[in-house]
Amino acid sequence: MRSVIIAANWKMHKTIMEAEDFIDRLKKEEDKLPSAQLVICAPYITLPVLSASLENLQVSLGAQNMHWAKEGAYTGEISPLMLRELGIRYVIVGHSERRLYFKEDNQMINYKVLAAFEYGLTPILCIGETEAERRGRRTADVIERQLREALRDVPQEAIRNLIVAYEPVWAIGSGNPASGEDANRVAHLIREIIGTLYSEEDASRMRVQYGGSVKADNIGEFMRYADIDGALVGGASLEVSSFLPLIREGVAAKEANS
Ligand code: PGA
Repeated sequence: MRSVIIAANWKMHKTIMEAEDFIDRLKKEEDKLPSAQLVICAPYITLPVLSASLENLQVSLGAQNMHWAKEGAYTGEISPLMLRELGIRYVIVGHSERRLYFKEDNQMINYKVLAAFEYGLTPILCIGETEAERRGRRTADVIERQLREALRDVPQEAIRNLIVAYEPVWAIGSGNPASGEDANRVAHLIREIIGTLYSEEDASRMRVQYGGSVKADNIGEFMRYADIDGALVGGASLEVSSFLPLIREGVAAKEANS
């Protein structure tokens, strides 16, 4: 059975002091953390401090982006080698905010996925349709294209370690999540596409998250579905008081339905 994985995406929130404060608060509630894989994708500058303070907690660290090259003349960028040196295990790739505001396309995202695997990082590949694409009933086409192009040349032995986050763009930060049923339909489609590109077994082992306005009071609606293994959480991950109940509800819903 696939294990639950819940990831926080802090985006451009939290100074080093605020990040430390979050971890202090989390440590105080440590006994309430259910057993699940937890990841905090934090701003680069907070990662060294977090990697020291998270030592005894069952929480892994992720970056929110990276360049694909090992090093080079790319002003302002961070390389996979730099992340690996810090002991970072996960990296979000292709978040819709990167696609929209920083013009990342599927080609760049493909380079990043390949680089993540090369450096032993687990990519959390974000895909999802815009509102206009949804209204035009193009969700399935968009998902298929994003997956195919992002995974070009990714070898079979790597694919089981991939995490795909289905994040409909219109649901992110809008307070308007997808329905569990719709999210699961797309999660299932993602597995079908992976099954075609790789194998059914790879598809059944790979983990798929839902992201977009996930909160403690709606995560159960997603986790009760078979194809959804976890969530990528923005706003509700910023405070321990909202993130901890979300984790507990999510894990409880999966346990109740498996
Ligand atoms: P949200 O963000 O939970 O605030 O909607 C999710 C994301 O962008 O990953």
